[in-house]
Amino acid sequence: MNTVLHLQALDKHFGGLHVTRGVTLQLHAGERLALIGPNGAGKTTLVNLISGVLAPSSGRIALHEQDITALPQAARVRAGLARTFQITTLAPQLPVQRQVELALFEREGLTGRWWRPVHAYPALTQEALALLATLGLAAHAALPTERLAYGEQRLLEIALALALKPRVLLLDEPMAGVPQGEGARLLAALDALPPDLAVLIIEHDMDLVFRFAQRIVVLADGAVLADGRPDEIRRDSRVRAAYLGH
Ligand SMILES: Nc1ncnc2c1ncn2[C@@H]1O[C@H](COP(=O)(O)OP(=O)(O)OP(=O)(O)O)[C@@H](O)[C@H]1O
Ligand SMILES: [Mg+2]
Repeated sequence: MNTVLHLQALDKHFGGLHVTRGVTLQLHAGERLALIGPNGAGKTTLVNLISGVLAPSSGRIALHEQDITALPQAARVRAGLARTFQITTLAPQLPVQRQVELALFEREGLTGRWWRPVHAYPALTQEALALLATLGLAAHAALPTERLAYGEQRLLEIALALALKPRVLLLDEPMAGVPQGEGARLLAALDALPPDLAVLIIEHDMDLVFRFAQRIVVLADGAVLADGRPDEIRRDSRVRAAYLGH
């Protein structure tokens, strides 16, 4: 299988707190991997290590064959690693479509020319509309971002990450805070992600996890407790004891 992301013996200490313990993990092209585990297990910390928000105390991270352990966040994004943006960094009054176009401009190195008429870049406009359609947001293209429902804003975050044409997408609890009624749309959008994109998702919603993931990694006390197919994880007595609780 084609490995896109390879974590080797990652460790992270916060002072005396040993939060990530010898995590070795591979993510393959097009794979849907869920990372689950109790609160405080170190899931978000692992995503922060992968995306470069935090530097590991020891260990190595490779994207394809490239060692990215020491690369800053922006360079990792250029190398094909994206995580969902924080919606709070977005301009609330900007139309949804414009928001995506700006991300595309940034990818193409056109930042600073954003004031040029949109029709100067018809291919990017098309791409923005196609991305919004993938995520079920096409009908809202002209709306100011602040008018989107909460779940739709999470979808827009995913659209902005996809605008960077990543090879690996990291999603940290995309369902958190999404009202019940909007959950189905988010699931549909996750199902519509490009098949060659490798997706690592952290999620506490076990219905989503077992529906979406081809493989599940269970983290407990910062270490990998189990790594297997959903049916193997469901049967694993250690996982039940540590997390699933039944
Ligand atoms: N910057 C930091 N400084 C000190 N301790 C931290 C820092 N970030 C995380 N921790 C600690 O590391 C541990 C793991 O936290 P982390 O946020 O990675 O857990 P998590 O698995 O994402 O939990 P949750 O399911 O609640 O989101 C926790 O004990 C947390 O308090
Ligand atoms: Mg977390």
